[in-house]
Amino acid sequence: MTPVRVLTGIKPSGTPHLGNYVGAIRPTVRASRQPGVDSFLFLADYHAMISTQDPARLQRSTLEIAATWIACGLDPQRVTFYRQSDIPEIPELTWFLACVCGKGLLNRAHAYKAMLDKNAAARAEPDEGVSTGLFIYPVLMAADILMFNAHQVPVGRDQVQHIEMARDMASSFNHLYGEHFTLPEAVIDEQVATLPGLDGRKMSKSYDNVIPLFAPPEQLRKLIMGIVTDSKSPGEPKQTEGSALFQIYQAFATPQETATLAQAYADGIAWGDAKQMLFERIDREVAPMRATYDELMAHPEQVEAILQAGALKARAVATPFTARLRHAVGLRPLQTNSQSQTAKTDKAARPAFKQYREQDGLFYFKLTDAKGRVLLQSAGYASPQDAGQTIARLKAQGWTACADLHAQVAVADGTSPADLDAALQVLRDAE
Ligand code: TRP
Repeated sequence: MTPVRVLTGIKPSGTPHLGNYVGAIRPTVRASRQPGVDSFLFLADYHAMISTQDPARLQRSTLEIAATWIACGLDPQRVTFYRQSDIPEIPELTWFLACVCGKGLLNRAHAYKAMLDKNAAARAEPDEGVSTGLFIYPVLMAADILMFNAHQVPVGRDQVQHIEMARDMASSFNHLYGEHFTLPEAVIDEQVATLPGLDGRKMSKSYDNVIPLFAPPEQLRKLIMGIVTDSKSPGEPKQTEGSALFQIYQAFATPQETATLAQAYADGIAWGDAKQMLFERIDREVAPMRATYDELMAHPEQVEAILQAGALKARAVATPFTARLRHAVGLRPLQTNSQSQTAKTDKAARPAFKQYREQDGLFYFKLTDAKGRVLLQSAGYASPQDAGQTIARLKAQGWTACADLHAQVAVADGTSPADLDAALQVLRDAE
């Protein structure tokens, strides 16, 4: 089965809090570990430039957010985890898409319209405070998604319109230049947990009621002691319903632990004791991650190395794909014959897999490029099915993503992983 490619961007801004952890980070990390999922996760630092014009802060937030996700269990070996600005192909694709995206489409973006409304209410110029970057935000986001032909994009409700715009741009481009892009779908998690904050309203930076995820234990304890409760005294039974303390506990505890706290509420536990229980429960989950986080923050070079390795993986897809897109739009070496090189590669000029049986009775395959040169040569398989399965996986996933197959298949001299990914992509597109 072809894995589903799931892609999400995280804007590096602000310090992550428990609400971000429970509502976004923890579920996304868990989802990325599921079989059959090919997960792409990146730090949207080009996007952050629209709202942050403080260079030190942008750098700091990028480090903090990267360290947070790694500390929370994101496995950079499994997931393609990278920084948007390490992929120069993304701004290039942004331009390609900008040229097929009607300006009127962007005029209708909610975020932009909200700015117009705000300015109208303040009797300011309509575009006061609107940078061109803000205006074309959806184009950059479309490039993020389409570059990797993501099938699914998990996002909050406020981002759904952006995914629809990405589909629009993909369709226009495909219509003009051939089928290059998969149309992405937004995936909204209906049961995404929202955590109450210190004052009982949704935990959010804008309410100033947050508990930072990696606050040192003493500060964590102090903040938890400040969560609002009613004024019932020790010994009086307490209501779990509407109790922010209880809801936060539930987000971290097992059903059994939660039942125990519910019983303690009924038995009249003192608020101070309940808060101590909450502190201990959160700290139990967070302490090991906090230790990793502190370690990474003290060693930014380690985070940088992880992001560089991620960029390499991402560019193994982005570089050959962009080369094809450049060709498709007509950004071509001048000597190539524009008649024979139309948007769709004709069959004769495609890479191909050839399966055959050798004297030794085993089954083999090789991959040749459009000119018939051998790119890959397999080892011998006991059955044609085994060989066929390996071919199917290479076709579906590309070379880079199939690291576990590399021992079974020899790469011809002078052939790079990017060449292989490009050849396999051509085959996939031709199907
Ligand atoms: N705009 C998203 C947000 O504000 C972040 C983002 C940028 C993104 N590029 C993306 C999300 C691509 C999903 C896919 O949350």
